[in-house]
Amino acid sequence: MKLSVIGTGYVGLVSGVCFSDLGNEVICVDKIEAKIEMLNQGEVPIYEPGLKQLIDKNKNQGRLHFTTDLTEAVQKSDAVFIAVGTPSLPNGQANLGYIEQAAKEIGESLNCFKIIVTKSTVPVGTNEKIREIISKHSQFPFEVASVPEFLREGTAVQDTLHPDRIIIGTSNEFARKQLIELHTPLTENIIVTDIRSAEMIKYASNAFLATKISFINEIANICEKVGADVTQVAFGMGHDKRIGSSFLKAGIGYGGSCFPKDTQALIQIAGQMDYDFKLLKSVVEVNRDQRFNVIRKLESILGDLTGKTIAVWGLAFKPETDDVRDAPAFEVISSLLEKGATVKAYDPIATENFMKNFSAEEVEYCWNARNAAENADALCILTEWKEFRDISPCLIQSWLKSPNLIDGRNIYDEEELAETQLIYYSVGRPNMNKGVKEMNPILLT
Ligand code: UDX
Repeated sequence: MKLSVIGTGYVGLVSGVCFSDLGNEVICVDKIEAKIEMLNQGEVPIYEPGLKQLIDKNKNQGRLHFTTDLTEAVQKSDAVFIAVGTPSLPNGQANLGYIEQAAKEIGESLNCFKIIVTKSTVPVGTNEKIREIISKHSQFPFEVASVPEFLREGTAVQDTLHPDRIIIGTSNEFARKQLIELHTPLTENIIVTDIRSAEMIKYASNAFLATKISFINEIANICEKVGADVTQVAFGMGHDKRIGSSFLKAGIGYGGSCFPKDTQALIQIAGQMDYDFKLLKSVVEVNRDQRFNVIRKLESILGDLTGKTIAVWGLAFKPETDDVRDAPAFEVISSLLEKGATVKAYDPIATENFMKNFSAEEVEYCWNARNAAENADALCILTEWKEFRDISPCLIQSWLKSPNLIDGRNIYDEEELAETQLIYYSVGRPNMNKGVKEMNPILLT
């Protein structure tokens, strides 16, 4: 098929590149000239394992193109994918400005029948709005469909090429057939729904996963009080097929470009229909509060943090990405600075992005993990990069001024800690906390 993809963010770029790898002719469109220029020169604006190789391969084979010319791209395509951002408005609602603009420009560009597919995460009813906008600007026939994207950052290429399922929301027989044919090489597990249900599936899936995370984080907090180990609890729970083992890793809460935005948007969508989504509101609140456990734990060891030097390892919202959007590191570092601490921070690849929010005058950015930890009063691990796992706790102890380690991602096990004198606090594993003088969990409330 001949396809165009509007928007070269994570979703648009990865989808476009993967479609071209399946043998389709793909034109990726973006308004930002610098981005298109970069892509045309073989550079990739996001860090995503395997993506550059796929771009190089498909560009060389002449199937993948990048342009700022939306009209030409649309006119050359059988199907047009909308993959522009839907960022949060201050009230949490999804901002549909980019979607509406894309729909208008698509309408103005149509030259014959096309299928218009929305990949962006959009509130229920948006595809109908897209249909209205396009109709207003075009005399040509078209059909709309919702095909939400479920890729994760860091494994985006793998997730796109091997999805668990594909959801196709459309009421049109021809669009359904064409989109099934396009996606069949990726998986046989294709689920066809009406448009509104497809839009809802995306929000409901993200909200459910966010709920699992907040749930296990609360269980972890209770484990700390009753002396159980959340990793063993999650393992035991996960063996029940009805529960499943994924997304039960306790830590300092979810971040990233999707869960925080989509949970807020779903609360707003419900609210607009006079429905109070109490469960999801609590999920969001638990997630926000979970980040501050790092600070509470630090204070329980060090007391007043004024004048203390705190090392932070991990600024990205998760490993294998340079994305810092809604990363727990923001709240943790803001709070440390507010409390008068000096912060030394290190991340393998996300420092540059993080610096856009905290200048080098506010935070001392370090070149490696050791530099950050050296002479600090405590070290907090906020992202479970493999690079950190590979550093032995003995070495960490030798670098720190005081041997205090707050492990927000449970990356170390008992054996590794046994040989150290570290004062160690992890999440929901009270039996592993070493050297914590006061185990009375009241300190954590
Ligand atoms: C998520 C969804 O997984 C994906 O389907 C959707 O398309 C976009 O949003 P992503 O944000 O890339 O993907 O990351 P994901 O791997 O899902 O992790 C999200 C956050 O949850 C991270 O901050 C991660 O640290 C946290 N998390 C995840 C946990 O704290 N515990 C877990 O068990 C799993």
